[in-house]
Amino acid sequence: MATFIVLLGPPGVGKGTQAKILSDRKGLAHISSGDLFRENIKNQTELGRLAQTFMSKGELVPDDVTIAMIKDRLSHPDCRNGAILDGFPRTPAQADALEDMLKEFSGRVDAVPQITAPMDALIERMSGRWTCRANGHSFNTKFNPPKLEGVCDYDGSELFQRDDDKVETVKRRIQVYFDQTSPLISYYREHDKLVEIDGLQSIEQVTKAILSALNV
Ligand code: AP5
Ligand code: MG
Repeated sequence: MATFIVLLGPPGVGKGTQAKILSDRKGLAHISSGDLFRENIKNQTELGRLAQTFMSKGELVPDDVTIAMIKDRLSHPDCRNGAILDGFPRTPAQADALEDMLKEFSGRVDAVPQITAPMDALIERMSGRWTCRANGHSFNTKFNPPKLEGVCDYDGSELFQRDDDKVETVKRRIQVYFDQTSPLISYYREHDKLVEIDGLQSIEQVTKAILSALNV
């Protein structure tokens, strides 16, 4: 049976960083809703234009378009064994939609590592973040610098700073997480899927904690 892992946690906590590592280690697809939106923005699609109006303000993109985008992504052959979901679901409606989608693929959410860190750490991480243009790899000038400034260690593509990493937008994104996404903590706890992970540890330690908590 396919394995689906949902990484839950506020902006900047390290979901993307961990999702890339886990996807390599477990041989599962990495699905990042934020990366999919950024790809659409880069390609100037209609979805990209719509998403940009919400992302630039730090607001969530509406559920219907987000759900349709993920449903399409899950139908790709690389998701046959499962996926690491990074940034989706982000509302109770998205979580319900995910359950229905996975039934169609004869899967279910297996585990939900909830990565936590205090607000000041999140802001510090996002202000030092550099993101890779080709595949969304995350680096940090202080915590995880690339070997060569401005260049991705993994694919050699250019590193850029995200528009929504400005301090004001970051604060709004964190608020939106607490208002709209944090209800998923109790949702997945009630479904016995939630495992709490201390995101203040080093990248390697967080990976180790997630892997030892995963029963898959
Ligand atoms: P999205 O791209 O998903 O952004 P996010 O959830 O705000 O999270 P980030 O990508 O900012 O952080 P991350 O947790 O991935 O951290 P990272 O690993 O990079 O979403 C962007 C926007 O798209 C949303 O605001 C919304 O508008 C829209 N959107 C996306 N999904 C949606 C959905 N489902 N519904 C509706 N709208 C949606 O790490 C951060 C930094 O910290 C990096 O520099 C990294 O190197 C460093 N770092 C990582 N781990 C550690 C560590 N352990 N110690 C020290 N530094 C670390
Ligand atoms: Mg991310």
